[in-house]
Amino acid sequence: MAHRAVASVARHRVMSGAPIPSAAGASAASGSGSWFLRKFLRDPKEVASVWPSSRFLARAMVAGIDMAPGESIVELGPGTGPFTDAIVPKLASVPGASYLGIDRDPEFIAHLRRRHPGLEFVQADAFALPELLAARPQLRVRAVLSGLPLVALPKPQVTALSEFVHGLLPTGGAFRTFSYLHTVVNPASWWLRGLLRERFARFVVNGPVWRNVPPALVFAAQR
Ligand SMILES: C[S@@+](CC[C@H](N)C(=O)[O-])C[C@H]1O[C@@H](n2cnc3c(N)ncnc32)[C@H](O)[C@@H]1O
Repeated sequence: MAHRAVASVARHRVMSGAPIPSAAGASAASGSGSWFLRKFLRDPKEVASVWPSSRFLARAMVAGIDMAPGESIVELGPGTGPFTDAIVPKLASVPGASYLGIDRDPEFIAHLRRRHPGLEFVQADAFALPELLAARPQLRVRAVLSGLPLVALPKPQVTALSEFVHGLLPTGGAFRTFSYLHTVVNPASWWLRGLLRERFARFVVNGPVWRNVPPALVFAAQR
């Protein structure tokens, strides 16, 4: 029921076209590259990247996130799931840990549900996070990982999201996102750093992670 209510508050956008990869084709998140590329060519603003993140970037995204029993990780824009793959061992090592993944793309969601049947994935707008979490009061969120193209999104929307995440996290809780190295020439990338540095108790930029297409920086904020 809650699931249905939540689905109605989010702005869904159904994308037509590319078939969902077979279970064999989806055997590794990074193996979904050409599928991802096709989606990028169809909707560059939404997908925002030509290739899924590498396992090296995924490792850097989750490094140092310590969870206590019963805590949760929320992932915004998991795509084909490279970060999800890196989150799974963390969840497995903590009793009662849980996960919520939110992506607007129905094909990515279908793929992720098949790949990780024990995790919860919702097809919804990540900016409906407050409503999505209100419908899941049992979640104690320790970390929020974002694969959303925050640098390209409207600043008021990004500001509201970071305010909400800051208010949601406990002391020591983590907000992580990444930015491609070439965006250092984009003032919006510096604006995002400034926003996170000002809002959170601690903010560091890790990387570059060279073994990613393209190389990327991890923006790691801690409440
Ligand atoms: C740059 S891709 C990152 C995918 C994956 N995290 C990775 O690193 O390979 C951005 C992802 O965010 C999703 N996305 C973009 N805007 C969104 C929104 N407002 N709400 C939910 N998902 C969104 C896209 O469908 C896509 O899966």
